[in-house]
Parts: sequence; C-alpha cells; structure tokens
Amino acid sequence: MKLSRIISNQNSVSRRFANQLLAAGRVIVDGTVCRDGSLDIPRFQEVRIDQNIVQQAQPAYYLMLHKPAGYLSATRDDQHPTVMELIEPDLRAHLHIGGRLDRASTGLLILSSDGHWSRRLTAPAIKIPKVYRVATAEPISPQTSERFAAGIWFEFEQLTTSPAQLEQLGDREARVTIFEGRYHQVKRMFHAVGNRVTSLHRESMGSLALDPGLPTGGYRHLTADEISSIG
Ligand code: URA
Repeated sequence: MKLSRIISNQNSVSRRFANQLLAAGRVIVDGTVCRDGSLDIPRFQEVRIDQNIVQQAQPAYYLMLHKPAGYLSATRDDQHPTVMELIEPDLRAHLHIGGRLDRASTGLLILSSDGHWSRRLTAPAIKIPKVYRVATAEPISPQTSERFAAGIWFEFEQLTTSPAQLEQLGDREARVTIFEGRYHQVKRMFHAVGNRVTSLHRESMGSLALDPGLPTGGYRHLTADEISSIG
C-alpha cells in the first residue's frame, strides 16, 4: 500500500495532513524518516508517526522445500496430500507457492508470504532460469537440444516457448533449463519431440538451488543472502 494511504487510513488523518506529516519528517519506516508518500510499503515494514505505530510489521517467511513425489503443489485438496501438510501448522496459513511442480515431480519448491518477492521468481517477463533433471522413456535424440533451443510450438496457448537449453547426461537423461513456467512445460516439450518424461526433478530457480542437505519432504528458511539474491 502507498505510504500516504497507510497514514491517511488512520482515524481523522486527512490526505492533506498526511502530506504535512511526511514533509515534516514525522513518518518513520523501519526506523528511517521517509518523506515520499508515493512509496509502496509492504506489510512486512513498520510505519510510525513519531512514536506511534500505524502499521505493525508482519513477519515475512521464505522457505525452500524438497518436494517429494505424490504431493500436490496446492494449499488444500480433497484427494491428494498437499505440500502444505509438510510445513509446520503455524506457518501454513501465511504461505503461498512460488512456482508449482506437478504432483509426480520432485525437488525445489519455494514458499513465501511475500507476494512481491515470489512474483520475481515466476513472472514470465523476468525469465529466471529453472533447471530440471529429466529422465525419459525413449533415448533422447540428437535433434532434441536444437528443437528446444528453437522453441516448441504450444498449440493450446498458440505460442512458441522461449529458447531452452538441454544438456545430455545419458541416453535417457538430461538437464533442461527453461525460462518460463508454463503448465506441464517440460513434459509437453518432450512430448512434442516424440518422447515422454518419466521423472522430473527441479534443481534450481535462478540463484536458489535445492540444498543437498535437505531430506525429501524437508524444508528450511532461506538465508538473508538467498532472499536478497532474488532482486
Ligand atoms: N514442467 C513440467 O512438465 N512439470 C513440472 O512440474 C515442472 C515443469
């Protein structure tokens, strides 16, 4: 919410008076005087007028989970267990998922209470690389990497995927880097070249790599460096 709005939402503070408070240096955001009422202030920051708190800072959570197969990337479901069931109950209500994985897929899943931050991971325009280790039913043909680099036509969306990279690791195994996160994207790309994905594991999203120390189903809070690396 805009800072001027946070102030004028207070009882009996008009827009005009809010601007006067700002100009007089009486508005303090996280301990620093702020005079710009047009700034967007997330709910994780404290706002004071002199000594009076007008917005209490909400705690922000940033987690990485090692998703096991069989869990839905959803907050609740009647049929299948969801990844939220792997998170301690006190945290669950605050979190949303930053970039889903299919039920059968495993690996890095990011959960956060900070929508501004997690949108940077998923916004198609930002093109953060997402790296997957993939096993396939058929041998991966030599043309596959060229086809992925040229982009694959998705009939349903009527678009060509952004250039993707394929590093062959074995006859039926590859590391694939994509820069979007379309529905079943990696599976559909292999399907388009006459192959089928049998397992899919996300290793990283941008600078965030799955912690090798995390057991399947385990999670941890991101470090301050990890959080700020998604800028
Ligand atoms: N692409 C897929 O097909 N599935 C995932 O879970 C992620 C990317």
